[in-house]
Parts: sequence; C-alpha cells; structure tokens
Amino acid sequence: MTTFKQQLTSSIGKKVVMAATGLFLCVFLLEHLYGNILLYFNDGGKAFDEYSHDAVRNILIRIIEIALFGAIIIHVIQALIITNDNRRARPIKYAVSTSTEGSSWFSRNMGLTGSVVLFFIVIHLYHFFFPYRILKDHTHTVAQMVKIGFQDPVYVAIYVIGVTFLFFHLNHAVRSAFHTLGLSNKKYIPIWQAVSTGFAWLMWISFVSFPILFYFGIAGKSIQI
Ligand code: HEM
Repeated sequence: MTTFKQQLTSSIGKKVVMAATGLFLCVFLLEHLYGNILLYFNDGGKAFDEYSHDAVRNILIRIIEIALFGAIIIHVIQALIITNDNRRARPIKYAVSTSTEGSSWFSRNMGLTGSVVLFFIVIHLYHFFFPYRILKDHTHTVAQMVKIGFQDPVYVAIYVIGVTFLFFHLNHAVRSAFHTLGLSNKKYIPIWQAVSTGFAWLMWISFVSFPILFYFGIAGKSIQI
C-alpha cells in the first residue's frame, strides 16, 4: 500500500501539489487585486491603509499570509524538482525537436515565466513588504509608499514586465492545473484554455493599471505626500 508521502512524491503527486499550490496562488492574486482596487477610492488612501493595517492585526489574514509564503516556496521547489526530473528522464535532446507540435510557447516556458515572476515577487516584497512590515519603517503610509514607488519609471517598468510574465505564466497555468486535477478532458480543453486566457488578461489589465495610472497622475490624486 502506498503511503501519503509516496503519493505526494510520485510524478503525478508532484504535479498535483504544483496544481494545488498554483491555484491557491491564483486565489491570492484575486485577494491582492481587491486590496489594490481600494487605492482607486478618492479618500486619500484611507480605505487601502485600513485594509493594510487589518492585514497586520487580523490573525486569520496572518495565517493565510503564512500559508501563501509556504505555497510559493513549495510551488518553486516543486518546479525545480519537476524540471530536474524531466531533464534526467531525457538527458539527450531529440535530434529533431518536435516540442513545438501541439504545445504552445507558454506551456514550454513555464520555468522561464515562473522564474521572472519569482524575481518580480522578490523585488515587490523588497519595495513594500520589507520596509513596512519587517523594518517597521512607518514614515509613510502604505498608500503613500505606493504613490512614491510608482513615480519611479524604473520601478514602473519592472512592475509592467513582471505582470506581463505573470500573464504568460497564467495563460497556460489554470488550464494545466485543471488538466492535472483530472477536471478536463479533450472536449473541455478549449473551455479551460479560454478560462485560463481570460483570467490571465484580467490579471494583466488590472495589475498593470496601477503603475500606469499612478505614474501619469490619473490615480492617487487625493493621496498627499
Ligand atoms: C502568483 C504566482 C504564481 C501562480 C498563480 C502560479 C500558478 C501556476 C499554476 C496554476 C500552474 C499549473 C500547475 C499544473 O500544471 O498543474 C503552474 C505551473 C508551473 N509554475 Fe507557477 N505560479 C506562480 C508562480 C511561479 C513561480 C514563482 C515559479 C518559479 C519557478 C513557477 C513555476 C512553475 C512551473 C515550472 C510550472 C509547470 C510545472 C509542470 O511542468 O508541470 N510558478 N503555476
């Protein structure tokens, strides 16, 4: 009889862990988006700052935050293990590559797009989470930090590139996760692909709007620095 540990470390088990952590991260993206939308309120950043303070005080949000850190670490470690397993299974490449047949650029480059997303997450945390939550530097409110951050064209460019690679990752991710979890068959592939692409576009348009609208002074007018 196979143990739970053996099931998790089997090749399909690894894929299931990848899919579960990936979908959990998708839920986080929606929650993060909800918080960011509060920045568009014309209230001097009050609603957004209250939401950020609640995130620090609320024990449930703290637990979810820890689970998120755990999920991203597990997702990245599993990505490395799966990539390594695939490489070991086929150490010598085909003389004629057929990898483009039936697979998209997005599906073949999940490691690359995921790595750029990881790089972006680290910069993002360094910019906002680290000074405010770890160093406890409260010279500015979080809303003010956002406004200041998005006045820097370099940070705006990094943000737009990071979110664009997130789009590339998500364009294949949701569809792939449903396939891994056995919720998709040939008939439903176009539907899950449409869901995947739709979700990827929704995330791209929404998250890219923040740096762009703040940079051009269209959003955040009421936030005083
Ligand atoms: C918010 C961030 C992220 C989200 C929402 C996300 C979501 C997902 C989802 C849903 C999948 C599909 C799993 C499956 O095929 O069943 C996936 C796959 C993958 N992710 Fe992510 N991911 C994120 C960040 C990352 C990061 C930082 C990496 C770092 C390397 C990464 C690397 C990968 C790789 C390599 C795969 C494909 C694994 C395979 O071949 O099966 N992801 N991701």
